[in-house]
Amino acid sequence: MKALILYSSRDGQTRIIAEQIAARLRSSRDCDLLDLHQCDDVLLENYQQVVVGASVRYGRFHPTLMKFATRYATQLNQMPTAFFAVNLTARKPDKCSPETNAYTRKFLQQSPWRPQQCAVFAGALRYPRYRWLDRVMIRLIMKMTGGETDTSKEVEYTDWDQVSVFIKNISYI
Ligand SMILES: Cc1cc2nc3c(=O)[nH]c(=O)nc-3n(C[C@H](O)[C@H](O)[C@H](O)COP(=O)(O)O)c2cc1C
Repeated sequence: MKALILYSSRDGQTRIIAEQIAARLRSSRDCDLLDLHQCDDVLLENYQQVVVGASVRYGRFHPTLMKFATRYATQLNQMPTAFFAVNLTARKPDKCSPETNAYTRKFLQQSPWRPQQCAVFAGALRYPRYRWLDRVMIRLIMKMTGGETDTSKEVEYTDWDQVSVFIKNISYI
């Protein structure tokens, strides 16, 4: 049994979550962890399970995610697969499920790939690492939505218990 975990991450939080998933899955199976942006061709026939994670920037996942989902949909839909989304909207309890998180709902509606398991995790806010314009924009969004506005701070909103439940759910495969 070999699992493939792919991540699309800009600032690293999705990669950190993917690493945690890989570390836990490795107790029961072989596991490859790859950056979705660095694999042009994926040999899915080498795997019995695929997990994909992607973060949201300015209202959308990176286009590479939909390209991957479209290109490999036929194969993906015939094997156990899971998807997890990462964004800051999901720090709100009423916006952290595939049904209530608008980015995830839209992706799942538009994608020909139908993952059997899906989760939405809150990401991280790391003001000091952002470029000036991104920092200004994110601060504005945080102000409007009642989040952290101190730009000297880094805040991890990820609920690791929620990640653990997801890992348990995909470990039964
Ligand atoms: C420039 C920028 C734009 C973002 N846009 C959104 C957004 O539109 N909606 C949202 O919920 N989160 C947004 N986020 C929050 C990210 O999804 C969050 O920081 C996540 O942890 C990023 O994951 P990554 O580190 O794997 O890239 C944005 C973050 C940045 C830095």
